[in-house]
Amino acid sequence: FLLFFLYVSIFSDATFYFQIVNNTQVNTSDCPITYYGQEYTTVYTNFTGEDLFVCFNGYYNPEGNGDCIRVPNTDNRTYVDLNNDNDPSSWTGLTDLVHSSVSTVTNNVTCYLIFSFKSVSVLVQSSSFFIQTKQLSDQTLFCILRSILHDICSTFTEHGFGVKPGDTRQIPNTCTFLTCSRTSITSMKTCGPPGQCDGYRACSVKGLCTVTGPTVIDFSEQINSVSDRCEYSLLHDQSTGFSLKANFLDRRRRDVSFVDSLTLDFSDSGDIQLLQGHRVKVTGSPVTLTSSVQTFSGVDLSKDQTGVTASFSVNGSSVSVFFDGTTAQIYLNKSNSLTYEGLCVDSSSSSSSRLPSNSSCQDQYEDPADDTIDCAAVTQQCSILKSAPFSSCNLYVDPEPYIIACRSTLCKYPSVDNLRCQFLKAYAKACEKKQVDLQNWWTTAQYHPEPICEDKCSDHEFCGDIHGNTDCRCRAIFASKFTEQNRLGGPTVCQDNTASLSLVGCLLKEKSIDYTHLHLNDQTCTGVMDPDSHMLKFTFQSDSCGTEVTTNNSQVTFTNAVMTRNSSSDVITRHDKVFIEFSCSHPKPQLQNVAFKIIDNSVEVFLQSGEWKYTLTMKAYSDAAHTQLLDPKSDVRLNQKIWIDLETNGLNKDVVSVVTDSCWATSENSPNSVPRYDLIRDGCPNADDGTVNVMGNGEGTSNSFSFNMFEFSGKETSEVYLHCQLQLCVKKNNNCVPGCSFAGRRRRSLRYRRGAPALISMVWTH
Ligand SMILES: *[C@@H]1O[C@H](CO)[C@@H](O)[C@H](O)[C@H]1NC(C)=O
Ligand SMILES: *[C@@H]1O[C@H](CO)[C@@H](O)[C@H](O)[C@H]1NC(C)=O
Ligand SMILES: *[C@@H]1O[C@H](CO)[C@@H](O)[C@H](O)[C@H]1NC(C)=O
Ligand SMILES: *[C@@H]1O[C@H](CO)[C@@H](O)[C@H](O)[C@H]1NC(C)=O
Ligand SMILES: *[C@@H]1O[C@H](CO)[C@@H](O)[C@H](O)[C@H]1NC(C)=O
Ligand SMILES: *[C@@H]1O[C@H](CO)[C@@H](O)[C@H](O)[C@H]1NC(C)=O
Ligand SMILES: *[C@@H]1O[C@H](CO)[C@@H](O)[C@H](O)[C@H]1NC(C)=O
Ligand SMILES: *[C@@H]1O[C@H](CO)[C@@H](O)[C@H](O)[C@H]1NC(C)=O
Ligand SMILES: *[C@@H]1O[C@H](CO)[C@@H](O)[C@H](O)[C@H]1NC(C)=O
Ligand SMILES: *[C@@H]1O[C@H](CO)[C@@H](O)[C@H](O)[C@H]1NC(C)=O
Repeated sequence: FLLFFLYVSIFSDATFYFQIVNNTQVNTSDCPITYYGQEYTTVYTNFTGEDLFVCFNGYYNPEGNGDCIRVPNTDNRTYVDLNNDNDPSSWTGLTDLVHSSVSTVTNNVTCYLIFSFKSVSVLVQSSSFFIQTKQLSDQTLFCILRSILHDICSTFTEHGFGVKPGDTRQIPNTCTFLTCSRTSITSMKTCGPPGQCDGYRACSVKGLCTVTGPTVIDFSEQINSVSDRCEYSLLHDQSTGFSLKANFLDRRRRDVSFVDSLTLDFSDSGDIQLLQGHRVKVTGSPVTLTSSVQTFSGVDLSKDQTGVTASFSVNGSSVSVFFDGTTAQIYLNKSNSLTYEGLCVDSSSSSSSRLPSNSSCQDQYEDPADDTIDCAAVTQQCSILKSAPFSSCNLYVDPEPYIIACRSTLCKYPSVDNLRCQFLKAYAKACEKKQVDLQNWWTTAQYHPEPICEDKCSDHEFCGDIHGNTDCRCRAIFASKFTEQNRLGGPTVCQDNTASLSLVGCLLKEKSIDYTHLHLNDQTCTGVMDPDSHMLKFTFQSDSCGTEVTTNNSQVTFTNAVMTRNSSSDVITRHDKVFIEFSCSHPKPQLQNVAFKIIDNSVEVFLQSGEWKYTLTMKAYSDAAHTQLLDPKSDVRLNQKIWIDLETNGLNKDVVSVVTDSCWATSENSPNSVPRYDLIRDGCPNADDGTVNVMGNGEGTSNSFSFNMFEFSGKETSEVYLHCQLQLCVKKNNNCVPGCSFAGRRRRSLRYRRGAPALISMVWTH
């Protein structure tokens, strides 16, 4: 070896060769050394008495992480020999020699750098490990060959030094592992999400995560957006079970979501919800917060003009969560526990961070672009973060993610509801965490604290600007169900005799309709505003609120209308007029297919009883006043009430009374046929049939009764024959009135005496 190298040296022009006896540095840029992909052009030597160090990235420092060769210091000197002859032919012999002795080397020698030691062993020291080569003989050369070291990883010589393929090296300040292969170096970050390199070889989770509207800027300042309305995990610690969840919902556009609420879920104790309007719920119950800190199950809660802050610690590291209704900022001071996951740890982990819930939250919508948005102007507005006073913080907090978040949201979604300022405020808050005070940034940015809705908005609403006032607006997806059909509410709910119509409170507001000015046909019938859902409900019945009832052959329709109060007496009006008609239809209550017709509407018989000669007439009416005589053309439906008059003519009413002793129905002509159904028995209504009512029986020479129409079971097509048997009764002390008990049950004794009865019949058919 030695001889060969010397031989090469002698015949080469591009050679320098000298002796080193003290701590010095040598310019080796003519034959640079590549070590784990890093090229070194200077070599440093240190004699420490016992050892000699030849280092590549600075003088030997026992505390440092230098890349050095350590050799026993045998004679207080070393020789350096460098050759970089450009003529490839001069390298053939050396290349052959290298290839034959080191099988892993395949490339050609183009230069060499030789350190010669009179040593027994060579150590290669890097920051994390040593490789000790074989025992060397006294006269061994230690050599570093440029071509071989072109990728030093691929070189491990039997008699020299190098690194075996597959060996790895850790770079402390980036927490990266470099691994050598024969052809390349692969690098692997050991602090992927969730961890970040702390610059000293250790990984930790820390930093600030900002969620503004749809955008998430994670701890590593990587930016991403949520495009649906699902619940996501922002931060989840597997080891403790702690979870911070964020729910996203639509506002003015269906295709842009905003962070709407946060839930702090402690697996062991209950959860805390940070909601719209700076409201907070602890295990489901609302709590009232002030600027002084209150502690609920280990969580410090406080509230100021800008929003709500929750501070707590998870496994020894402190977490603070701020929420103002549109922006959430999560600050984790430092955690060596690497069991975190969620959007704050890796903003691109949308699909794994989405929490299982109603799958309709993933539905995608596309709204037409808002042509009032000037994207160029928006971009300029967002870039204010790069100018004073924000620029004083640019060194500490990169404004770029905030500018991108601002731009990407406001080029799509109108810059209303104080939205532009949200991004500036988020940046200012991030600077605050880095102890950078942006003096009066709100003056420059014309920021005013976002107004809060006086009312708690319902689930389908959000707090926003309505014609210059801050009030609950409708969320776009909810509103579209109505506005697409040009409706303000509904549909009409019909139940029994009641119709109701609910109008959407936020739609009315957006349309400048004052709900207190609305009423039904009858002005006194106004809507009832639900304090939670903000739905205005109008209700009417068929016989109230000026309802109009119309019927046609099959339907009965109840119609009413919601209208604006007639305020023609007012000089001015600020509200749009409304007229919404709504109605309910019911099929007519009687059955259609069973209609009876009376065959003869008036039956008259001539009778003689002793000295009395008289006529008996039986007539059927459809009304209690006995004005609508049923005739063969009128339909009588099942269960329809019918009044039957039994009148006599030719009797002296001072002397004699007519008693309807019994009335019954048969399905055949003969009064004695079966089946038989009794309506009146012994002068009293059949107690088993609640519909029979007997009037004036035995009081005079006429009486009547009513009953509900029926048919014989199983004989739908046949007739109904109605027979009545009457008695004449000579009046004496009211003795002719049958004694019927209150319930219609007859008494044992009959007051009237029975004589020869008179019989009259009537027929119904269908
Ligand atoms: C190192 O040695 C060289 C000669 O070999 C000499 O010129 C130089 O001054 C020495 N440097 C120190 C710091 O002793
Ligand atoms: C090393 O030498 C090269 C020329 O061979 C020169 O260009 C370079 O500047 C020198 N480097 C130092 C650090 O002196
Ligand atoms: C190595 O040499 C340099 C330059 O002379 C010197 O500053 C440094 O202290 C030396 N290191 C050690 C460990 O002796
Ligand atoms: C190297 O030099 C030092 C003094 O400069 C001396 O004490 C030591 O013995 C020498 N070592 C060898 C191996 O010659
Ligand atoms: C090495 O040199 C030989 C002969 O000079 C040549 O054929 C071959 O292509 C060279 N290999 C590389 C990798 O340059
Ligand atoms: C993080 O917060 C915890 C709890 O408040 C505290 O003990 C710790 O010193 C903090 N660590 C850092 C690096 O700020
Ligand atoms: C807490 O953090 C440490 C590391 O800092 C980790 O080893 C441990 O598993 C974590 N979890 C719990 C429940 O302590
Ligand atoms: C999912 O949510 C929609 C709207 O919020 C609701 O109409 C639907 O009933 C829900 N489905 C399930 C399975 O909960
Ligand atoms: C009767 O009115 C109802 C409700 O208005 C309607 O749906 C139906 O078509 C009408 N029928 C006739 C025969 O006009
Ligand atoms: C409203 O009032 C004016 C005058 O009082 C009247 O002429 C008009 O018909 C009314 N309109 C309604 C819908 O009642």
